[in-house]
Amino acid sequence: IINMDAQATVMSNVLMASSEMPEGSVKVQGYDFNDGIDYDKILAAYTYSGFQSTNFGRAVEEINKMVIIAKRKEPINEENLDKVNLNPINRIKTNCTIFLGFTSNIISSGLRSTIRFLVQHNLVDCLVVTAGGVEEDFIKCLAPTYLGDFNLKGSDLRKKGINRRILIGNLLVPNNNYCLFEDWIIPVFDQMLKEQKEDGVKWTPSKVIWRLGKEIDNPDSVYYWCYKNQIPVFSPALTDGSLGDMLYLHSYKNPGLIIDIVEDVRLMNNQAVYAANSGMIILGGGLVKHHICNANLMRNGADFSVFVNTAQEFDGSDSGARPDEAVSWGKIRMQAQPVKVYAEATLVFPLLVAQTFAKDFHSNRKVIV
Ligand SMILES: *[C@@H]1O[C@H](CO)[C@@H](O)[C@H](O)[C@H]1NC(C)=O
Repeated sequence: IINMDAQATVMSNVLMASSEMPEGSVKVQGYDFNDGIDYDKILAAYTYSGFQSTNFGRAVEEINKMVIIAKRKEPINEENLDKVNLNPINRIKTNCTIFLGFTSNIISSGLRSTIRFLVQHNLVDCLVVTAGGVEEDFIKCLAPTYLGDFNLKGSDLRKKGINRRILIGNLLVPNNNYCLFEDWIIPVFDQMLKEQKEDGVKWTPSKVIWRLGKEIDNPDSVYYWCYKNQIPVFSPALTDGSLGDMLYLHSYKNPGLIIDIVEDVRLMNNQAVYAANSGMIILGGGLVKHHICNANLMRNGADFSVFVNTAQEFDGSDSGARPDEAVSWGKIRMQAQPVKVYAEATLVFPLLVAQTFAKDFHSNRKVIV
């Protein structure tokens, strides 16, 4: 039993009156399914739902800012044109240079089609990828990747025999796909070495990727379109994957091929230095996240940034670092409104593209910011 005084104290503590909410405060509200099933409205309601759905809504806004000021359909005015020749072949500059980075599993997954759409229609300006993100695209042109299961046993799959398969998460790749890749790529390396020796061609990772995109000559391929549309693709760790295995083999079969990463870092950083405005869209962490942010340090920070990943900041990793850490380095501008969506990209990225690039592409309606 508590006495009357104590009861009054408890009540005043629990039900303490708050001050008025500041003007412009936004109410939390979700989608009402009595209004029918309208995916556009459902996604628009995310903004007011809280947690990661609000971050999703903010990411849509941030990407639409890039899409709107890029004004891809209009030529850029004279003063913003390149002061230097940034790319080995000229690329028409827009008012916002959009960097897109993703890890290799993204290309293993169905997101490859989403990314192919973006480069096919020239909606982004510069890609940063890992070696796996390059080779998986070409391998899929030679043979498919299949759905498997996270619970398949590695040792069962590894057992010798014609049926050997490897796992990427819950995706299955027959080992034979990598044999097909070898048969396709080794003659291309032979030809590249010949050009190096006879014509003095200096290869860089970005030139290699363009060349492979040209050779694959397949509209399903991301890098076929990067080659066609002159979108530079940077991959400073090009040897860290099956591509590296192939270069290793080739260095014994037919030695001498040189791939220079220094020419590429200059080209990469200059994409940011000479950008009129700069936007970063980064799926996952590691090299691709850091390489894009670091290039943007050269211009005192990106104007617009969207990170989509599941990494956490508590271990001090760059992968988990929140956008605010990048602000401290000068990789994102102080006045920017960067967004991190804590989510797995295959769930979220198609929806992000639907509400931004694809919406703008498929209609003449202005996207709403
Ligand atoms: C380019 O972007 C800036 C914002 O930095 C904007 O003020 C300007 O109107 C844009 N220019 C064109 C030609 O769209």
